Amino acid sequence: MILIASSRPEVEKILIKVFEKYAPEIPITTPNTPQALQARTAACWFPDLAQLKQLPQLQLLHSIAAGVEHLDLAQLHAPYRVCRVLDQVHQQGMLDYLLWGVLYFQRAFNHYFDQAQQRIWQQHRQRSRQELCIGVMGLGHMGAFVAQALADLGYQVRGWSNSTKQLLNVQSFVGRNQQAKFLADCDILINLLPLTDATYALFDQQLFQQLKKGAAFIHCGRGQHLVEQDLLTALDTGQLSGAILDVFEHEPLAPTHSYWQHPKIVVTPHIASHAPMSAVLKQIIDNDFRLQSGQDLRHEVDLTRGY
Ligand SMILES: NC(=O)c1ccc[n+]([C@@H]2O[C@H](COP(=O)([O-])OP(=O)(O)OC[C@H]3O[C@@H](n4cnc5c(N)ncnc54)[C@H](OP(=O)(O)O)[C@@H]3O)[C@@H](O)[C@H]2O)c1
Repeated sequence: MILIASSRPEVEKILIKVFEKYAPEIPITTPNTPQALQARTAACWFPDLAQLKQLPQLQLLHSIAAGVEHLDLAQLHAPYRVCRVLDQVHQQGMLDYLLWGVLYFQRAFNHYFDQAQQRIWQQHRQRSRQELCIGVMGLGHMGAFVAQALADLGYQVRGWSNSTKQLLNVQSFVGRNQQAKFLADCDILINLLPLTDATYALFDQQLFQQLKKGAAFIHCGRGQHLVEQDLLTALDTGQLSGAILDVFEHEPLAPTHSYWQHPKIVVTPHIASHAPMSAVLKQIIDNDFRLQSGQDLRHEVDLTRGY
């Protein structure tokens, strides 16, 4: 029995539909039903944790995505365990999105789209891959894959993480002590960090000041990583030349938000990459089986570390 647990009714509906489509043999239920009392595993997206805590058999809170910030890990401890979804198609999707983002800045499309509106014929210098330094913050499931692929294509790539990484032709920088050194040479900065206490509001004025003047920013982590006003100041002063934003503090982004009309910002509606729903269900069902049979769970989150 898998519990579908989301405080967002539209997500609950979609999850029920995909379980019925891809796994009709698996019994599912929702909170506030007698069957929910039997559920060991919950497929979660912003669940009502207080409600889940009433369910005596529940042990595994399974995110339907790579991120787990919607589970409020600070509130969770034994017997609860948390898993997330990791998938190759998901990695490839993120790489495709970021290849577009890197080329957008590398080949000055940010200027050309703007110029086209004003019918301005002006060529910008063609920059090669080899002369661009790309910094990837977060070298986990997504970041390491992206950093390696960009390095293989010939970009200068450096990555920032909590522990040292050994990736071919990717320079590894670790922790706060090496943050300024990591940032100093980046032409394009990519955020692929998880949202934790340590990374909340990390992208602020101080961080942007440590970048090379005119660097570009691609934001694919979580909205709460970014201090909105500091981004706007960095763009307005020219410290940043442009930003592509895929994640926001409040989603969907309000129609009145200033990002939409900002000439140096491209907004995408949290679409950088999604894991196929069939893969999401497969991992949840597999982990539920592992839990039942006492096997190790796959892609389990370290609750003390927060990611
Ligand atoms: N926009 C989208 O469509 C989309 C899609 C998928 C994922 N995402 C987001 O992408 C982000 C990355 O996901 P992931 O699955 O790659 O995460 P992950 O596998 O958990 O990797 C996290 C990486 O960040 C590093 N890190 C964590 N805290 C740090 C800190 N305080 N200082 C320095 N490095 C730190 C970790 O270092 P260590 O390796 O040393 O532990 C690790 O390399 C998440 O925010 C996720 O929600 C967005």
